[in-house]
Formats: sequence, structure tokens, C-alpha cells
Amino acid sequence: MIEKVIPIRLESGAAAAAPPWDGTPPRDALARPLRDLRISVTDRCNFRCVYCMPREVFDANHAFLPHSAILSFEEIARTARIFVGLGVKKIRLTGGEPLVRKDLHKLVALLAPLGADLTLTTNGSLLARQAPKLREAGLQRVTVSLDSLDDATFRRMNDADVAVTTVLEGIAAAAAAGLAPVKINMVVKRAMNDHQIVDLARHFRGSGHVVRFIEYMDVGSTNGWRMDDVVPSAEVLARINAHFPLESLDPQYAGEVAARWRYRDGAGEIGVISSVTQAFCRDCNRIRLSTEGALFTCLFASAGHDLKALLRGGGSDEAIRDRIAALWNGRSDRYSEIRTAETARLRKVEMSYIGG
Ligand code: GTP
Ligand code: 5AD
Ligand code: SF4
Ligand code: SF4
Repeated sequence: MIEKVIPIRLESGAAAAAPPWDGTPPRDALARPLRDLRISVTDRCNFRCVYCMPREVFDANHAFLPHSAILSFEEIARTARIFVGLGVKKIRLTGGEPLVRKDLHKLVALLAPLGADLTLTTNGSLLARQAPKLREAGLQRVTVSLDSLDDATFRRMNDADVAVTTVLEGIAAAAAAGLAPVKINMVVKRAMNDHQIVDLARHFRGSGHVVRFIEYMDVGSTNGWRMDDVVPSAEVLARINAHFPLESLDPQYAGEVAARWRYRDGAGEIGVISSVTQAFCRDCNRIRLSTEGALFTCLFASAGHDLKALLRGGGSDEAIRDRIAALWNGRSDRYSEIRTAETARLRKVEMSYIGG
């Protein structure tokens, strides 16, 4: 059933001062380090993907965040610097669609000197024009969502009349600008685009781009998720393997989201992201900063932790750092490991609000 977007519950950040950070890299309650910061820079998007922002919910009456509520580039950069001081090694910009945020390259220029791996997830529709200036500003690579090579299927999924050639041009421009390796994310939904799995694999074999096949997830409360619509990664791999034999590769780092596979004939690698059938919470080192300055310790959270009050209320860097460290120390999220039919029905934050 399609539901309306829930108002995000925010737990106040300013209510009680956090204990001082003890100077060691924070570990959460399950001993997981804090490595990966994902920053949502806008809750808006020029697509209406059926599995993320169904048009009947995200219509002309949908209240997106007003400009005054969203963090400025300076506020984001300050927060990111504090995170890097706590041990964050990777920063990913997300949305909504991050490239609809005006002058995003200026934020990239503020973040690049922090020294973390700096990347961005985009739907690719605005990438061709922006790739060179993003690269110049210091972006290292990009991940582009692409759910089908077949134009009719692609348009049905993005529900915004964007042609697949537009995204392919964006991918080519990103590669030409040196934003490599380009990763391609395909969300697989049964009977919607699963007939495109082998086509996508074939198209990008030998290109140096890495396609990752993502199991359709029960994020948010509006996409009408059903287990029957999930194509397990084992099935994705079997279908590709039947055409192009595969062998598994070791992870590049602990906590990598995608399981890696290579073509036996040397034509490159692919990945599968199996949050539903093979949860990877055990090593989850990711935290998410929302557009309006709230922290979420899980993609499936139903509440965020407000940081904006501290940022805008004269909180020192130390006070912000202490708050983040305390939040991480208390974290015990492992949603995908404990997913059931009941939890799938819980009201959760939308993917377009928190980024992927
Ligand atoms: P790199 O390998 O560094 O390029 O990044 P990544 O593997 O984190 O890739 P990306 O950010 O593109 O994530 C790919 C997709 O995996 C996201 O769009 C989500 O759909 C899913 N994903 C990422 N992080 C999580 C997570 O913490 N939990 C769950 N359940 N899914 C996630
Ligand atoms: N399940 C899996 N992946 C999703 N994404 C968005 N919604 C879902 C979902 N329900 C992916 C997008 C993009 C990234 C931001 O998250 O396709 O690659
Ligand atoms: Fe926009 Fe990405 Fe959501 Fe599609 S998946 S609606 S491109 S934010
Ligand atoms: Fe991390 Fe939550 Fe995803 Fe598990 S479900 S991997 S805890 S974000």
C-alpha cells in the first residue's frame, strides 16, 4: 500500500551536553568503527523513480525542505571536518539528486582538502555538463544510478521522461573528466527491469566501469515494497554467469557494501549489494547527515539526531565532536540483519531524504 511521507522525528541534540570525547577513534556498541560519512545535500530530485519517490506521493503538493532549513556549504564542510578528525575516511555526497543543488562544485572544493575519499551518487541526468567542474573542484569519482538500457523501461522507472542516452552521456563525460572508476548502480525490481540484468552486464563489460546490482530494499514507507519484488543476488549472479562466467573477488576493505565478482575472461568486475538476502550490518561503518543537519545511524532509522541546533546555536567544534562521538558510541543498529515482514512495514525515513 502506498502511504504518505512520514514527518521525520528528530531527537534534540542540544538538550544535554555529551561527555568529552576520549581521543580514541569511536567504536559503536557492536565495536564497529566510524569510517564512512554520507551527506545528503538536497531532498529534491528531478526523477520520480517508482521504488524511491513515487509520483503519487511526491507530487506538486509535497513539501520539500525550505532553503532556510537546509545546511549551508560552510556548515556541511565544518561538520565534515569534525568527522574526519574522528576517523572518517570516505565522504559520499547524495540527495535526492545532489546535482540539483546549485553550485555543488563549490561544496566539493570545500571538502576536497579534508583528504578523505570524496565521491558522489547521482542519477546522471545533469552529469555531462557538471563533470569537468566537479573534477576540477576535487571530486575523485562518481556512482551513477542506471536501472535499464532499454529506453521504455528506463522511462517507466524514472517516471520523469528522461532518456537513457542522457545518462549514458553523463557516464561518458564523467569517465572523460577522470572521475574513475565510474560505478553504475542498478536497482533490480522483479518484473520491472530484471530482464535487463544481462544486458547491463554485457554493455559495461570491458569498459572499466563497475556495475553493481542492488536488491530492491524496504527503505522508507512509500514504495509499496514486497519481498516478491526482490531478485536475490544469487539469482542475478547465476543469470550473468550463464552468459559470462564469473569468479568471486576478496573485499577491498572491511565493511564493503558490494560483494565483488570478476569475469573469468578478464573483462572487468561487477558487484552485488544484497541487503535483503545477505545483510552486511556486522561491519557497517556508515553514518548519514541529512540535508537539514540531522544524523542517522542507519539507513532504516525512524528518527534522526539533530545537529543543526548545535551548529547554529554557537556550539564549539569540540561540543559537536563530543556529541557525534557519544552518538556513535551508543549505536547498535543492525536493521537488515533483523528484518522481518513486520519491520518492513515500520515507518522509516525516505531514501530521497537521507540518500542511498
Ligand atoms: P564504494 O564501493 O566506495 O563506491 O561505495 P558504496 O559501496 O558505499 O556504494 P554506494 O554508496 O553507491 O552504495 C550502493 C547502494 O548500496 C546504495 O545506494 C544503497 O542502495 C546500498 N547501501 C549503501 N549503504 C548501505 C547501508 O548501509 N545499508 C544498506 N542496507 N544498504 C546500503
Ligand atoms: N532499494 C534499493 N536501492 C535503492 N535506491 C533508491 N531506492 C532504493 C530501494 N528501494 C538506490 C538508487 C541509487 C541510490 C541512491 O539508492 O538507485 O543508486
Ligand atoms: Fe531520485 Fe535517486 Fe530517488 Fe531516483 S533513486 S528518485 S534518482 S533520489
Ligand atoms: Fe548499516 Fe543499517 Fe544498512 Fe545495516 S541496515 S548495513 S546497520 S545502514
